[in-house]
Amino acid sequence: MADSKATLSLLIFLALLSFFLPTLSSLRPPRLSQSPKHARRHLGTSSRSNYSGSLGAPQYRYETRYFDQNIDHFSFSDLPKFRQRYLINTEHWSGPDRAGPIFFYCGNEGDIEWFAANTGFVWEIAPRFRAMIVFPEHRYYGESMPYGSWEEAYRNRTTLAHLTAEQALADFSVLITELKRNLSAEACPVVLFGGSYGGMLASWMRLKYPHIAIGALAASAPILQFEDLVPPETFYDIVSNDFRRESVSCFNTIKDSWDVIGSEGQKENGLSYLTETFRFCKKLKSAGDLSDWLDSAYSYLAMADYPYPADFLMPMPGNPIKEVCRRIDNCPDGTGILQRIFEGVSVYYNYTGTVDCFELDDDPHGMDGWNWQACTEMVMPSATSRNSMFPAYSYNYTDYEEWCLENYHIKPRPTWITTEFGGHGFKHALKTFGSNIIFSNGLLDPWSGGSVLEDVSESIVALVTEEGAHHIDLRPSTAEDPDWLVEQREAEIKLIQGWLDDYFERRTVFDM
Ligand SMILES: *[C@@H]1O[C@H](CO)[C@@H](O)[C@H](O)[C@H]1NC(C)=O
Ligand SMILES: *[C@@H]1O[C@H](CO)[C@@H](O)[C@H](O)[C@H]1NC(C)=O
Ligand SMILES: *[C@@H]1O[C@H](CO)[C@@H](O)[C@H](O)[C@H]1NC(C)=O
Ligand SMILES: *[C@@H]1O[C@H](CO)[C@@H](O)[C@H](O)[C@H]1NC(C)=O
Ligand SMILES: *[C@@H]1O[C@H](CO)[C@@H](O)[C@H](O)[C@H]1NC(C)=O
Repeated sequence: MADSKATLSLLIFLALLSFFLPTLSSLRPPRLSQSPKHARRHLGTSSRSNYSGSLGAPQYRYETRYFDQNIDHFSFSDLPKFRQRYLINTEHWSGPDRAGPIFFYCGNEGDIEWFAANTGFVWEIAPRFRAMIVFPEHRYYGESMPYGSWEEAYRNRTTLAHLTAEQALADFSVLITELKRNLSAEACPVVLFGGSYGGMLASWMRLKYPHIAIGALAASAPILQFEDLVPPETFYDIVSNDFRRESVSCFNTIKDSWDVIGSEGQKENGLSYLTETFRFCKKLKSAGDLSDWLDSAYSYLAMADYPYPADFLMPMPGNPIKEVCRRIDNCPDGTGILQRIFEGVSVYYNYTGTVDCFELDDDPHGMDGWNWQACTEMVMPSATSRNSMFPAYSYNYTDYEEWCLENYHIKPRPTWITTEFGGHGFKHALKTFGSNIIFSNGLLDPWSGGSVLEDVSESIVALVTEEGAHHIDLRPSTAEDPDWLVEQREAEIKLIQGWLDDYFERRTVFDM
């Protein structure tokens, strides 16, 4: 299915577009790991429960449980409780007497079963650590809906008010604490895991709740993609470089395509022509919609530029950007730019060859959890530079805010995340008070530009791979894993082992 997303940008796009700049893409704030296709398709309906599994994804065994949480951990308001879903596996756990570790994945913006299926690393290493595995779901996603249903939870800004990272971290902390108490497992060390926004949560949780977790593996966590901590162009620059490194002519074809799309869109019957060329089911309403659709594909191709075939965001071949560029470059001489682009982007949208026609998101302004988060706390500035393959676009917070006011009746707080979790002077602060965090990143991943790419201290370390994409290290191992990936995972295992050894050593000392 087409990757439909509510774009924060559409209105920014409309607002910015002057008559003669029709191709300027809307540039939504790029999203973190995309919500699962299945969950997304179901958003707005009540049957979001049964994850149907993605092609070839390993199925892991777990029990599904529910836990009653306060909607607001930070006030004593009289709100109903909600049921938080969590997945648990204790098969390999060495138990409370041996203080068996607890591996805890910080659920991010989607159905937790989807993240569990795509986080093979945790499942694969748990037996050797004799660890329990827990995958709690993030509130307001999947089945973990306050007020009983998606419709109620997403009704308006009052009901959505408690969709925040702080509340999610408090959910996790309350859940772990009570779970441990129920199992008499108070002495069991907790290790946090997370990818993307989940990685941000894992690292923040380690910093905010050091008494609850002994360490965190934060994979592809762009915790510095706020305010002016990194240049706003970093995301699209990395996407562009991922294409340029495969083929300069491919990069140039894409770069040239925006103007062609724009001028085509202005012609009489131009939109019909574009609709036919790109085989949309319904007639395009604007050339900008097509640009957005392409922009999404390029961004997700860069995030999922894995060396082997995978079905993370969409089913794709190994090295998918190489394949896109091969198709764009290898069209017969005389093939027009639009046809080339269509051939290329089909690698993303139609790799299985089963799509009859492409659907654009029907309701780009529909309520969506991540857009809500982006309009409140998660204000991650984004822009393009002249050297990128995208149309020129500069970040304008005023427009961003206007979009949020119009669509969610909410005003973002762009400086809140750095106030709450740190950002400015981050390295110095962490060096002096933090410990035991791994920031892992692959440099092909456009989000790596907003993450921590250098060691902060002896125990807050950056593991960076040149050829890695979005949290590839968390994915299940495969026979095709390159050496650098095997080594990266070994390094992570060693660090985690070190945290545990350290914990047990201290514990013995205290117990004496
Ligand atoms: C999920 O699938 C199982 C087995 O197919 C079924 O028994 C169960 O009722 C389904 N649950 C929901 C909530 O649809
Ligand atoms: C949101 O919906 C709830 C429940 O229907 C209602 O009580 C509340 O007043 C609404 N808030 C706003 C801001 O519309
Ligand atoms: C702990 O046990 C109580 C009583 O059986 C139960 O209601 C609660 O859900 C349990 N907590 C967790 C986190 O499983
Ligand atoms: C998807 O791929 C199949 C097989 O190549 C092709 O027959 C079909 O027309 C494609 N769909 C679209 C919408 O391009
Ligand atoms: C941002 O957009 C607003 C309204 O669209 C405009 O008035 C303002 O000049 C822009 N700011 C910059 C720095 O371009």
